[in-house]
Amino acid sequence: MQIKQIISKDLAEADKFQIGILQPHGKRVRSFSYIKRQYKKHPSLFIACYNPSIAGIVFGFVKRDKVLLGELAVKKEMRGKGIGSKLVQRLAKEAKALGKKEICLGAQPDAEKFYLKCGFKPVLFAQIRHKDVPKDYLHKGFEIEKETNYKDAKRLFIHVKKYDKRLKEKAKKALNAYDVIYLFVKKL
Ligand SMILES: CC(C)(COP(=O)(O)OP(=O)(O)OC[C@H]1O[C@@H](n2cnc3c(N)ncnc32)[C@H](O)[C@@H]1OP(=O)(O)O)[C@@H](O)C(=O)NCCC(=O)NCCS
Repeated sequence: MQIKQIISKDLAEADKFQIGILQPHGKRVRSFSYIKRQYKKHPSLFIACYNPSIAGIVFGFVKRDKVLLGELAVKKEMRGKGIGSKLVQRLAKEAKALGKKEICLGAQPDAEKFYLKCGFKPVLFAQIRHKDVPKDYLHKGFEIEKETNYKDAKRLFIHVKKYDKRLKEKAKKALNAYDVIYLFVKKL
């Protein structure tokens, strides 16, 4: 088993691999042409585990001083053997080598515990349509670290003392949010 940077000629295969696991039916989050452009800029953030064919991949995308962990997938039969965490460790090393300060991601619910085990800190991310924002949203018992306003919605980043998967539902109700997910952050 070997963890290494994906070489250019394997990128399409690695992409097919991640789509098969992460978006088998739905539409893509990132187009392959976007992935190719990002790969050209920072190939070290595109990593695979070979055994000898691809058993797992991680794709990282530079966003200013951060790296967004965009895709992470391990072949079903190969899970629970430490491949996912090794891919994340390697991505952290490469992001640090590029001078980046943190890795962050929006997690699928099934993978939340995995990121906690990898040492990431959870942050709740709530999106609320402007018309639905409760007047007293600052007094609902959530510690708001940052808020941004977009055309359609307010976005809140909420400090989490201790991970609890039920917090998402609680925040959704209390804040009238249309979506609440856990973001995970790892300082480098
Ligand atoms: C999430 C995923 C990448 C983990 O890969 P993996 O190779 O199985 O992970 P590891 O073997 O390195 O696991 C590291 C630790 O996390 C735990 N873990 C892994 N996946 C977990 C999960 N889904 N739920 C809870 N714990 C999990 C492991 O038990 C292990 O714990 P331990 O250190 O106490 O033994 C893999 O399950 C996967 O590809 N899932 C489908 C795609 C996906 O959800 N990707 C993430 C999108 S945000």
